[in-house]
Amino acid sequence: VSTIADPSLAAAGAARIAWADAQMPVLRSLRARLAAERPLDGLAVAACLHVTAETANLVRALRAGGASVALCAANPLSTQDDAAAALVAEGAEVHAVRGEDSGAYAHHVATLVGARPQITLDDGADLLTVAHAAGMAGTLLAGTEETTTGLLRIRGLAAEGRLACPVVAVNEAWTERLFNDRYGTGQSALDGILRATNLLLAGRTVVVLGYGVTGQGIAQRARGAGARVVVCEVDPVRALEACMEGFEVLPALRAAELGEVFVTVTGSAGVLGAEHLERMRDGAVLANAGHFDVEIDLDALREAATGGVREVLPLVEEYLLADGRRLNLLASGRVVNLAAGQGHPPAAMDLSFALHVLVVEHLARHGAGLAPAVHPVPEAIDREVARLKLASLGVAIDVPTAEQLAYLERFRAVGWPVA
Ligand SMILES: NC(=O)c1ccc[n+]([C@@H]2O[C@H](COP(=O)([O-])OP(=O)(O)OC[C@H]3O[C@@H](n4cnc5c(N)ncnc54)[C@H](O)[C@@H]3O)[C@@H](O)[C@H]2O)c1
Repeated sequence: VSTIADPSLAAAGAARIAWADAQMPVLRSLRARLAAERPLDGLAVAACLHVTAETANLVRALRAGGASVALCAANPLSTQDDAAAALVAEGAEVHAVRGEDSGAYAHHVATLVGARPQITLDDGADLLTVAHAAGMAGTLLAGTEETTTGLLRIRGLAAEGRLACPVVAVNEAWTERLFNDRYGTGQSALDGILRATNLLLAGRTVVVLGYGVTGQGIAQRARGAGARVVVCEVDPVRALEACMEGFEVLPALRAAELGEVFVTVTGSAGVLGAEHLERMRDGAVLANAGHFDVEIDLDALREAATGGVREVLPLVEEYLLADGRRLNLLASGRVVNLAAGQGHPPAAMDLSFALHVLVVEHLARHGAGLAPAVHPVPEAIDREVARLKLASLGVAIDVPTAEQLAYLERFRAVGWPVA
Protein backbone atom coordinates (compact mmCIF):
# COMPACT_ATOMS: atom_id res chain seq x y z
CA VAL A 1 0.00 0.00 0.00
CA SER A 2 1.40 3.36 -1.00
CA THR A 3 1.57 6.66 0.91
CA ILE A 4 1.22 9.65 -1.40
CA ALA A 5 -0.30 13.13 -1.21
CA ASP A 6 -3.11 12.91 -3.75
CA PRO A 7 -3.92 10.09 -6.24
CA SER A 8 -5.94 12.52 -8.41
CA LEU A 9 -2.65 14.14 -9.53
CA ALA A 10 -1.82 11.04 -11.60
CA ALA A 11 -2.72 12.53 -14.98
CA ALA A 12 -0.57 15.63 -14.42
CA GLY A 13 2.24 13.36 -13.24
CA ALA A 14 1.96 11.14 -16.30
CA ALA A 15 2.35 14.21 -18.54
CA ARG A 16 5.43 15.33 -16.62
CA ILE A 17 6.92 11.83 -16.80
CA ALA A 18 6.27 11.66 -20.55
CA TRP A 19 8.04 15.02 -21.05
CA ALA A 20 11.08 13.73 -19.17
CA ASP A 21 10.93 10.39 -21.01
CA ALA A 22 11.19 12.16 -24.36
CA GLN A 23 14.57 13.52 -23.20
CA MET A 24 15.81 10.22 -21.80
CA PRO A 25 16.59 8.14 -24.92
CA VAL A 26 19.14 5.86 -23.26
CA LEU A 27 16.79 4.82 -20.48
CA ARG A 28 14.04 4.37 -23.07
CA SER A 29 16.16 2.00 -25.14
CA LEU A 30 17.05 0.02 -22.00
CA ARG A 31 13.39 -0.15 -21.01
CA ALA A 32 12.55 -1.68 -24.41
CA ARG A 33 15.35 -4.25 -24.14
CA LEU A 34 14.50 -5.16 -20.55
CA ALA A 35 10.81 -5.55 -21.40
CA ALA A 36 11.80 -8.08 -24.07
CA GLU A 37 14.40 -9.97 -22.01
CA ARG A 38 12.93 -9.67 -18.46
CA PRO A 39 16.31 -10.15 -16.73
CA LEU A 40 14.95 -8.81 -13.43
CA ASP A 41 11.97 -11.13 -13.11
CA GLY A 42 11.04 -11.55 -9.46
CA LEU A 43 13.74 -9.17 -8.16
CA ALA A 44 12.65 -6.95 -5.21
CA VAL A 45 14.18 -3.47 -5.50
CA ALA A 46 13.88 -0.67 -2.92
CA ALA A 47 14.84 2.85 -4.03
CA CYS A 48 15.37 5.93 -1.85
CA LEU A 49 15.86 8.65 -4.48
CA HIS A 50 14.43 12.06 -5.35
CA VAL A 51 10.81 11.28 -6.26
CA THR A 52 10.63 13.10 -9.58
CA ALA A 53 9.57 12.46 -13.17
CA GLU A 54 13.13 11.36 -14.05
CA THR A 55 13.18 8.82 -11.21
CA ALA A 56 9.74 7.65 -12.31
CA ASN A 57 11.30 6.68 -15.64
CA LEU A 58 13.99 4.70 -13.82
CA VAL A 59 11.28 2.87 -11.88
CA ARG A 60 9.40 2.16 -15.10
CA ALA A 61 12.53 0.69 -16.73
CA LEU A 62 13.21 -1.61 -13.76
CA ARG A 63 9.58 -2.73 -13.65
CA ALA A 64 9.64 -3.37 -17.40
CA GLY A 65 12.54 -5.75 -16.71
CA GLY A 66 10.42 -7.71 -14.22
CA ALA A 67 11.49 -6.15 -10.89
CA SER A 68 9.05 -5.08 -8.21
CA VAL A 69 10.00 -1.56 -7.08
CA ALA A 70 9.19 0.33 -3.88
CA LEU A 71 10.23 3.99 -3.84
CA CYS A 72 10.62 6.56 -1.07
CA ALA A 73 12.08 10.08 -1.08
CA ALA A 74 15.77 10.81 -0.49
CA ASN A 75 14.75 14.43 0.17
CA PRO A 76 11.16 15.33 1.19
CA LEU A 77 11.48 18.76 -0.45
CA SER A 78 12.17 17.48 -3.96
CA THR A 79 9.17 15.13 -4.15
CA GLN A 80 6.84 15.78 -7.06
CA ASP A 81 3.48 14.61 -5.73
CA ASP A 82 2.07 14.27 -9.23
CA ALA A 83 4.90 12.01 -10.41
CA ALA A 84 4.39 9.89 -7.27
CA ALA A 85 0.66 9.60 -8.03
CA ALA A 86 1.31 8.56 -11.64
CA LEU A 87 3.72 5.83 -10.52
CA VAL A 88 1.20 4.44 -8.07
CA ALA A 89 -1.45 4.46 -10.82
CA GLU A 90 0.95 2.29 -12.86
CA GLY A 91 1.25 -0.20 -10.02
CA ALA A 92 4.50 0.83 -8.32
CA GLU A 93 4.70 1.22 -4.54
CA VAL A 94 5.58 4.77 -3.44
CA HIS A 95 5.93 6.25 0.05
CA ALA A 96 6.59 9.96 -0.42
CA VAL A 97 4.75 13.19 0.28
CA ARG A 98 6.33 16.53 -0.54
CA GLY A 99 7.38 18.29 2.67
CA GLU A 100 6.82 15.22 4.90
CA ASP A 101 8.39 15.66 8.36
CA SER A 102 11.40 13.70 9.51
CA GLY A 103 9.21 11.20 11.39
CA ALA A 104 7.24 10.34 8.25
CA TYR A 105 10.46 10.23 6.27
CA ALA A 106 12.07 7.75 8.66
CA HIS A 107 8.90 5.68 8.71
CA HIS A 108 8.94 5.44 4.90
CA VAL A 109 12.57 4.34 4.81
CA ALA A 110 11.83 1.75 7.51
CA THR A 111 8.81 0.49 5.54
CA LEU A 112 10.97 -0.17 2.48
CA VAL A 113 13.70 -1.87 4.51
CA GLY A 114 11.11 -3.94 6.43
CA ALA A 115 9.86 -5.44 3.17
CA ARG A 116 13.26 -7.17 2.81
CA PRO A 117 14.37 -5.95 -0.63
CA GLN A 118 17.15 -7.76 -2.48
CA ILE A 119 18.66 -4.64 -4.00
CA THR A 120 18.72 -1.07 -2.65
CA LEU A 121 19.21 2.06 -4.73
CA ASP A 122 20.31 4.95 -2.52
CA ASP A 123 20.94 8.67 -2.83
CA GLY A 124 22.56 9.33 0.55
CA ALA A 125 22.75 5.73 1.87
CA ASP A 126 19.64 5.89 4.06
CA LEU A 127 18.23 2.49 3.04
CA LEU A 128 21.55 0.81 3.47
CA THR A 129 22.39 2.37 6.84
CA VAL A 130 18.91 1.67 8.23
CA ALA A 131 19.10 -1.93 6.98
CA HIS A 132 22.46 -2.30 8.76
CA ALA A 133 21.23 -0.63 11.96
CA ALA A 134 18.21 -2.94 12.01
CA GLY A 135 20.38 -6.02 11.49
CA MET A 136 18.59 -6.69 8.20
CA ALA A 137 21.48 -6.16 5.79
CA GLY A 138 22.46 -9.83 5.73
CA THR A 139 19.66 -10.69 3.32
CA LEU A 140 20.57 -7.92 0.86
CA LEU A 141 22.07 -9.05 -2.41
CA ALA A 142 23.62 -5.63 -3.14
CA GLY A 143 23.13 -1.87 -3.24
CA THR A 144 23.94 1.12 -5.42
CA GLU A 145 24.81 4.66 -4.33
CA GLU A 146 24.24 7.91 -6.22
CA THR A 147 26.08 10.55 -4.09
CA THR A 148 29.47 11.29 -2.61
CA THR A 149 27.99 11.85 0.83
CA GLY A 150 26.27 8.43 0.74
CA LEU A 151 29.50 6.75 -0.30
CA LEU A 152 31.32 8.35 2.62
CA ARG A 153 28.81 6.69 4.98
CA ILE A 154 29.08 3.33 3.21
CA ARG A 155 32.89 3.43 3.15
CA GLY A 156 32.69 4.23 6.87
CA LEU A 157 30.71 1.01 7.41
CA ALA A 158 33.21 -0.90 5.29
CA ALA A 159 36.18 0.54 7.25
CA GLU A 160 34.57 -0.68 10.49
CA GLY A 161 34.20 -4.11 8.90
CA ARG A 162 30.40 -3.86 9.17
CA LEU A 163 29.38 -3.62 5.50
CA ALA A 164 27.27 -6.72 4.87
CA CYS A 165 26.74 -6.55 1.09
CA PRO A 166 28.46 -5.26 -2.05
CA VAL A 167 27.67 -1.66 -3.06
CA VAL A 168 28.34 -0.16 -6.48
CA ALA A 169 29.50 3.48 -6.54
CA VAL A 170 27.37 4.68 -9.44
CA ASN A 171 28.28 8.33 -8.85
CA GLU A 172 31.94 7.61 -9.59
CA ALA A 173 31.29 6.27 -13.10
CA TRP A 174 32.77 8.52 -15.75
CA THR A 175 29.53 8.95 -17.72
CA GLU A 176 27.86 10.03 -14.47
CA ARG A 177 30.59 12.58 -13.70
CA LEU A 178 30.41 13.95 -17.24
CA PHE A 179 26.68 14.25 -17.52
CA ASN A 180 25.59 14.93 -13.99
CA ASP A 181 28.45 17.11 -12.85
CA ARG A 182 30.06 18.75 -15.85
CA TYR A 183 27.14 19.20 -18.21
CA GLY A 184 24.16 18.89 -15.84
CA THR A 185 25.40 21.12 -13.03
CA GLY A 186 27.42 23.25 -15.45
CA GLN A 187 24.22 24.33 -17.11
CA SER A 188 21.78 24.18 -14.20
CA ALA A 189 23.99 26.25 -11.86
CA LEU A 190 24.02 29.08 -14.38
CA ASP A 191 20.30 28.55 -14.96
CA GLY A 192 19.67 28.99 -11.23
CA ILE A 193 21.72 32.18 -11.13
CA LEU A 194 19.92 33.62 -14.17
CA ARG A 195 16.45 32.67 -12.92
CA ALA A 196 17.14 34.38 -9.60
CA THR A 197 18.72 37.53 -11.05
CA ASN A 198 17.92 37.80 -14.79
CA LEU A 199 21.50 39.05 -15.30
CA LEU A 200 23.04 39.35 -18.75
CA LEU A 201 26.21 37.29 -18.57
CA ALA A 202 27.76 38.60 -21.79
CA GLY A 203 30.59 40.97 -20.99
CA ARG A 204 30.49 40.29 -17.26
CA THR A 205 33.31 38.93 -15.17
CA VAL A 206 32.34 35.58 -13.68
CA VAL A 207 34.68 34.06 -11.09
CA VAL A 208 34.52 30.26 -10.72
CA LEU A 209 36.20 29.02 -7.53
CA GLY A 210 37.13 25.35 -7.95
CA TYR A 211 37.95 23.93 -11.39
CA GLY A 212 36.98 20.31 -10.72
CA VAL A 213 34.63 18.36 -12.96
CA THR A 214 31.72 20.56 -11.89
CA GLY A 215 33.58 23.89 -11.95
CA GLN A 216 34.83 23.11 -15.46
CA GLY A 217 31.24 22.79 -16.64
CA ILE A 218 30.23 26.07 -15.05
CA ALA A 219 33.28 27.89 -16.45
CA GLN A 220 32.67 26.54 -19.97
CA ARG A 221 28.98 27.45 -19.93
CA ALA A 222 29.67 30.95 -18.58
CA ARG A 223 32.23 31.52 -21.33
CA GLY A 224 29.70 30.26 -23.87
CA ALA A 225 27.29 32.94 -22.66
CA GLY A 226 29.90 35.61 -23.38
CA ALA A 227 31.24 36.16 -19.87
CA ARG A 228 34.87 36.88 -19.09
CA VAL A 229 35.67 33.90 -16.85
CA VAL A 230 38.26 33.91 -14.08
CA VAL A 231 39.18 30.62 -12.38
CA CYS A 232 40.58 30.25 -8.84
CA GLU A 233 42.22 26.97 -7.80
CA VAL A 234 44.49 25.47 -5.16
CA ASP A 235 45.57 22.47 -7.24
CA PRO A 236 48.41 23.33 -9.66
CA VAL A 237 47.37 20.70 -12.24
CA ARG A 238 43.77 21.91 -12.35
CA ALA A 239 44.96 25.54 -12.45
CA LEU A 240 47.26 24.72 -15.36
CA GLU A 241 44.39 22.99 -17.13
CA ALA A 242 42.27 26.13 -16.73
CA CYS A 243 45.13 28.26 -18.13
CA MET A 244 45.48 25.98 -21.14
CA GLU A 245 41.74 26.22 -21.74
CA GLY A 246 42.23 29.96 -22.04
CA PHE A 247 40.69 31.00 -18.71
CA GLU A 248 42.31 33.70 -16.63
CA VAL A 249 43.62 32.11 -13.42
CA LEU A 250 44.06 34.34 -10.38
CA PRO A 251 44.34 34.05 -6.60
CA ALA A 252 40.92 34.50 -5.03
CA LEU A 253 41.90 37.76 -3.30
CA ARG A 254 42.74 39.34 -6.67
CA ALA A 255 39.68 37.82 -8.37
CA ALA A 256 37.54 39.24 -5.56
CA GLU A 257 38.33 42.74 -6.81
CA LEU A 258 37.30 41.95 -10.41
CA GLY A 259 34.32 39.63 -10.16
CA GLU A 260 30.73 40.61 -10.80
CA VAL A 261 29.39 37.07 -10.29
CA PHE A 262 31.10 34.53 -8.02
CA VAL A 263 30.37 30.80 -8.04
CA THR A 264 31.97 28.55 -5.42
CA VAL A 265 32.17 24.86 -6.32
CA THR A 266 35.10 23.39 -4.39
CA GLY A 267 33.59 20.97 -1.86
CA SER A 268 35.62 22.90 0.73
CA ALA A 269 34.63 25.56 3.30
CA GLY A 270 35.19 29.30 3.73
CA VAL A 271 36.39 29.75 0.16
CA LEU A 272 34.98 33.28 0.07
CA GLY A 273 35.66 34.83 3.49
CA ALA A 274 35.89 38.26 5.16
CA GLU A 275 39.04 39.27 3.29
CA HIS A 276 37.40 38.56 -0.07
CA LEU A 277 34.16 40.32 0.84
CA GLU A 278 36.19 43.40 1.81
CA ARG A 279 37.51 43.71 -1.73
CA MET A 280 34.37 42.98 -3.76
CA ARG A 281 32.69 45.47 -6.06
CA ASP A 282 29.35 47.05 -5.31
CA GLY A 283 26.53 44.83 -6.62
CA ALA A 284 28.55 41.62 -6.79
CA VAL A 285 26.46 38.42 -6.93
CA LEU A 286 27.52 35.44 -4.78
CA ALA A 287 26.34 31.91 -5.52
CA ASN A 288 27.36 28.45 -4.36
CA ALA A 289 27.12 25.23 -6.38
CA GLY A 290 29.05 23.05 -3.91
CA HIS A 291 27.21 20.45 -1.85
CA PHE A 292 27.07 22.29 1.48
CA ASP A 293 26.29 25.93 2.28
CA VAL A 294 29.73 26.48 3.81
CA GLU A 295 31.74 27.60 0.77
CA ILE A 296 30.72 31.23 1.20
CA ASP A 297 31.43 32.27 4.81
CA LEU A 298 27.91 33.33 5.80
CA ASP A 299 28.95 34.47 9.28
CA ALA A 300 31.56 36.79 7.77
CA LEU A 301 28.95 38.13 5.36
CA ARG A 302 26.47 38.82 8.18
CA GLU A 303 29.16 40.49 10.26
CA ALA A 304 30.22 42.70 7.37
CA ALA A 305 26.61 43.75 6.70
CA THR A 306 26.41 46.47 9.34
CA GLY A 307 23.88 48.28 7.14
CA GLY A 308 21.48 45.32 7.30
CA VAL A 309 20.21 42.51 5.12
CA ARG A 310 17.06 42.59 3.02
CA GLU A 311 15.45 40.32 0.46
CA VAL A 312 15.43 42.28 -2.78
CA LEU A 313 14.00 39.46 -4.94
CA PRO A 314 12.93 35.92 -4.11
CA LEU A 315 16.20 34.04 -3.41
CA VAL A 316 18.29 37.24 -3.58
CA GLU A 317 19.44 38.80 -0.29
CA GLU A 318 21.24 42.13 -0.34
CA TYR A 319 23.92 42.63 2.31
CA LEU A 320 24.65 46.33 2.90
CA LEU A 321 28.23 46.90 4.04
CA ALA A 322 29.51 49.81 6.17
CA ASP A 323 30.99 51.65 3.17
CA GLY A 324 27.73 51.46 1.21
CA ARG A 325 28.66 48.51 -1.05
CA ARG A 326 25.94 45.92 -1.60
CA LEU A 327 26.64 42.21 -1.99
CA ASN A 328 23.87 39.94 -3.29
CA LEU A 329 23.73 36.41 -1.92
CA LEU A 330 21.68 33.87 -3.90
CA ALA A 331 19.59 31.12 -2.26
CA SER A 332 21.19 31.76 1.15
CA GLY A 333 24.39 30.15 -0.11
CA ARG A 334 22.73 26.77 -0.71
CA VAL A 335 23.27 24.75 -3.93
CA VAL A 336 22.10 27.29 -6.47
CA ASN A 337 21.03 24.86 -9.20
CA LEU A 338 18.65 23.05 -6.88
CA ALA A 339 17.50 26.00 -4.78
CA ALA A 340 16.97 28.50 -7.61
CA GLY A 341 16.80 26.30 -10.71
CA GLN A 342 15.14 23.06 -11.65
CA GLY A 343 18.07 20.80 -10.77
CA HIS A 344 19.51 18.40 -13.27
CA PRO A 345 17.85 18.28 -16.70
CA PRO A 346 16.26 14.92 -17.62
CA ALA A 347 18.92 14.38 -20.29
CA ALA A 348 21.59 14.42 -17.57
CA MET A 349 19.62 12.05 -15.32
CA ASP A 350 19.14 9.79 -18.36
CA LEU A 351 22.75 8.65 -18.12
CA SER A 352 22.81 8.36 -14.33
CA PHE A 353 19.72 6.21 -14.30
CA ALA A 354 20.83 4.16 -17.30
CA LEU A 355 23.90 3.33 -15.21
CA HIS A 356 21.64 2.30 -12.32
CA VAL A 357 19.58 0.02 -14.57
CA LEU A 358 22.65 -1.69 -16.05
CA VAL A 359 24.23 -2.01 -12.60
CA VAL A 360 21.04 -3.58 -11.19
CA GLU A 361 21.00 -6.02 -14.12
CA HIS A 362 24.67 -6.80 -13.45
CA LEU A 363 23.99 -7.30 -9.72
CA ALA A 364 20.99 -9.53 -10.38
CA ARG A 365 23.32 -11.78 -12.40
CA HIS A 366 26.61 -11.51 -10.50
CA GLY A 367 25.81 -9.81 -7.15
CA ALA A 368 26.05 -13.04 -5.17
CA GLY A 369 29.68 -13.45 -6.21
CA LEU A 370 30.79 -9.96 -5.14
CA ALA A 371 32.56 -9.30 -1.84
CA PRO A 372 30.87 -7.00 0.71
CA ALA A 373 32.80 -3.86 -0.29
CA VAL A 374 32.37 -0.71 -2.39
CA HIS A 375 32.84 -1.62 -6.05
CA PRO A 376 33.35 0.66 -9.05
CA VAL A 377 30.88 0.53 -11.93
CA PRO A 378 32.32 -2.05 -14.36
CA GLU A 379 34.04 -0.22 -17.21
CA ALA A 380 31.96 -2.14 -19.75
CA ILE A 381 28.79 -0.58 -18.29
CA ASP A 382 30.24 2.94 -18.49
CA ARG A 383 31.14 2.31 -22.12
CA GLU A 384 27.74 0.80 -22.90
CA VAL A 385 25.96 3.89 -21.54
CA ALA A 386 28.19 6.15 -23.65
CA ARG A 387 27.58 3.92 -26.69
CA LEU A 388 23.80 4.07 -26.24
CA LYS A 389 23.94 7.87 -25.81
CA LEU A 390 25.97 8.22 -29.01
CA ALA A 391 23.48 5.97 -30.80
CA SER A 392 20.62 8.17 -29.60
CA LEU A 393 22.47 11.17 -31.05
CA GLY A 394 23.00 9.36 -34.35
CA VAL A 395 26.78 9.59 -33.89
CA ALA A 396 28.85 6.70 -35.27
CA ILE A 397 32.47 6.05 -34.26
CA ASP A 398 35.25 3.76 -35.45
CA VAL A 399 36.11 0.32 -34.16
CA PRO A 400 39.78 -0.64 -33.75
CA THR A 401 40.94 -3.41 -36.06
CA ALA A 402 42.17 -6.75 -34.72
CA GLU A 403 45.73 -5.67 -35.63
CA GLN A 404 45.33 -2.41 -33.73
CA LEU A 405 44.00 -4.22 -30.66
CA ALA A 406 46.92 -6.67 -30.79
CA TYR A 407 49.37 -3.76 -31.18
CA LEU A 408 47.99 -2.00 -28.11
CA GLU A 409 47.89 -5.24 -26.15
CA ARG A 410 51.66 -5.67 -26.58
CA PHE A 411 52.22 -2.41 -24.73
CA ARG A 412 49.69 -3.30 -22.04
CA ALA A 413 51.64 -6.49 -21.40
CA VAL A 414 54.78 -4.49 -20.53
CA GLY A 415 52.84 -1.96 -18.45
CA TRP A 416 52.86 0.82 -21.02
CA PRO A 417 50.27 3.37 -19.93
CA VAL A 418 47.65 2.89 -22.62
CA ALA A 419 44.43 4.56 -21.50
N1 LIG B 1 25.19 21.48 -7.44
C1 LIG B 1 25.21 20.23 -7.84
O1 LIG B 1 24.23 19.69 -8.33
C2 LIG B 1 26.49 19.47 -7.71
C3 LIG B 1 26.83 18.47 -8.64
C4 LIG B 1 28.05 17.83 -8.52
C5 LIG B 1 28.92 18.18 -7.49
N2 LIG B 1 28.54 19.14 -6.60
C6 LIG B 1 29.41 19.57 -5.50
O2 LIG B 1 30.37 20.49 -6.02
C7 LIG B 1 31.56 20.38 -5.26
C8 LIG B 1 32.74 20.12 -6.19
O3 LIG B 1 32.52 18.87 -6.82
P1 LIG B 1 33.49 18.30 -7.95
O4 LIG B 1 32.94 16.99 -8.29
O5 LIG B 1 33.68 19.33 -9.03
O6 LIG B 1 34.82 18.12 -7.08
P2 LIG B 1 36.33 18.04 -7.56
O7 LIG B 1 37.06 17.46 -6.40
O8 LIG B 1 36.44 17.43 -8.92
O9 LIG B 1 36.75 19.59 -7.72
C9 LIG B 1 36.87 20.49 -6.68
C10 LIG B 1 37.99 21.44 -7.06
O10 LIG B 1 38.03 22.53 -6.12
C11 LIG B 1 39.37 22.85 -5.86
N3 LIG B 1 39.46 23.56 -4.59
C12 LIG B 1 39.45 23.05 -3.33
N4 LIG B 1 39.58 24.04 -2.43
C13 LIG B 1 39.65 25.19 -3.13
C14 LIG B 1 39.77 26.56 -2.75
N5 LIG B 1 39.85 26.92 -1.48
N6 LIG B 1 39.83 27.48 -3.74
C15 LIG B 1 39.77 27.13 -5.04
N7 LIG B 1 39.65 25.84 -5.45
C16 LIG B 1 39.59 24.89 -4.50
C17 LIG B 1 40.08 21.50 -5.87
O11 LIG B 1 41.47 21.66 -6.08
C18 LIG B 1 39.37 20.79 -7.01
O12 LIG B 1 40.03 20.99 -8.25
C19 LIG B 1 31.29 19.29 -4.22
O13 LIG B 1 30.82 19.88 -3.05
C20 LIG B 1 30.21 18.48 -4.87
O14 LIG B 1 29.44 17.75 -3.90
C21 LIG B 1 27.36 19.80 -6.71
